[in-house]
Amino acid sequence: MANWKNLDTLDAYKALAESGHRVDLKEVLAGEAGAERVKKYSVPMACGLTYNYASKQVDEEVLAKLSALAKESDLEGKFRELYNGAMINTGEKRLVLHHLTRGQLGDDVIADGTDKRAFYTGEQKKIAEFASKVHSGEICNAAGEKFTTVVQIGIGGSDLGPRAMYIALENWARANGKLRMEAKFISNVDPDDAVSVLETTDVAHTLFILVSKSGTTLETLTNEAFVKNALAASDLDPAKHMIAVTSETSPLAKNSGYLAAFFMDDYIGGRYSSTSAVGGAVLSLAFGPEVFDAFLSGAAEADKLAACSDPMSNAAMLDALIGVYERNILGYESTAVLPYAQALARFPAHLQQADMESNGKSVNRFGEPVNYKTGPILFGEPGTNGQHSFYQLLHQGKTVVPLQFIVFRENQTGTDVDIQGSTSQKKLEANVAAQIVAFACGKDDDNLNKHFDGGRPSSIIVGDMLTPEALGALLAHFENKIMFQGFLWNLNSFDQEGVQLGKVLAKKVLAHDTDGALAEYSRLLCI
Ligand code: F6P
Repeated sequence: MANWKNLDTLDAYKALAESGHRVDLKEVLAGEAGAERVKKYSVPMACGLTYNYASKQVDEEVLAKLSALAKESDLEGKFRELYNGAMINTGEKRLVLHHLTRGQLGDDVIADGTDKRAFYTGEQKKIAEFASKVHSGEICNAAGEKFTTVVQIGIGGSDLGPRAMYIALENWARANGKLRMEAKFISNVDPDDAVSVLETTDVAHTLFILVSKSGTTLETLTNEAFVKNALAASDLDPAKHMIAVTSETSPLAKNSGYLAAFFMDDYIGGRYSSTSAVGGAVLSLAFGPEVFDAFLSGAAEADKLAACSDPMSNAAMLDALIGVYERNILGYESTAVLPYAQALARFPAHLQQADMESNGKSVNRFGEPVNYKTGPILFGEPGTNGQHSFYQLLHQGKTVVPLQFIVFRENQTGTDVDIQGSTSQKKLEANVAAQIVAFACGKDDDNLNKHFDGGRPSSIIVGDMLTPEALGALLAHFENKIMFQGFLWNLNSFDQEGVQLGKVLAKKVLAHDTDGALAEYSRLLCI
């Protein structure tokens, strides 16, 4: 059994905290030694990706201490317990099984009398058969015509991950003849979200996927009713246009109001559900089941690497350790994910939920307060757009934000132009290299307004192209990084009690059961 201890009780952490040793990025990146460092400080990831951390504030001494921390915290053993089916989600008393949706790293996991790997693959098979029938026209609308569009209704984990993954692969799929159906998403309870999608969608040829693990989420049920009204207004039977993805225990399960239902369960957290039926339904319909399979195989390959005990060859573990070093020893409050790939436009938004809902906690996995900082604030935008926006603060602001760049050597569409001696793709890549060095090394100038301190750390994940496999590997890398950080901070990364209070108060407002400030805010908003 793993030894669950608070970070600040570990000797390796105390050694890190007590050491005044600090790495000066300008110094270590200077000259030939700097070039050697860029070559050396690199770890291979799954599917041909590479994690390079040469511009992080670490050196052999810090890395040795971080390796000792990984060992003392028993990160490998904790992950093993998780994938072998221990009750890691202490708050909700649940297993944590999203890794089983894409592979099996350890023992058979039997829960509720079911082999869970068999259950998840069984649902994937059902989805693949359903998607193939939709693509062939065997499942079609009342007029016997093919469905051409799929609209997912869901919020949080039932929206962000699948939406980010769809956007990440849409151009790749179009370029490779794999775009079977266009996908759209409705998430916000703001009526204008549903209206804007419905008004620009041919509902007669649209399949709607209602996604809610709990089957009780206010926004999603409201949007379902919205969509059903729109279908009815077009004389279409909602039961012939809607499928559900939910848990078998939810109120949506076994409901005759859907053409089909596919299941995940309580052992898959919403923010970890992209590789379950939640991502499986929309991605298999949009791109075909074989593309979803390729995505899963990339994630499975990354999970295998994450099971290795040595952080120097386990990119997710190393990324997690460096992140904790930055948060708890160097005192940085936030982190930015900066994909230099337009396809990853919504990936930072997905990671925001994955990271901040998992590790934005003040008590440990036993419900006791912790005396150290936990999850950072995460934000991000694709480059180069971000450069023309918030990079001013990143370069010269009073706060240091550790950065996580992501870039691919080839674009997905295969189309490019050569303007002023370089292609757009090369311009994109040149900007990443330039930014990393500008952040790390800075530039002296007597005019302080033009002076750059440097010393601003970043890592970069590099790949050849954002394919379904590479996307799966990238997603799993970040999921596993977040998991390892939760282990280090001794948190339960798999519940989300912090989102409950607001939901309860909103219900009171809608029921006009308010007093004091809440009543006054209700009046201000004319509710
Ligand atoms: O409110 C937060 C949350 O519970 C997320 O964790 C979850 O991803 C989202 O709501 C949606 O939940 P459901 O899939 O049950 O509708």
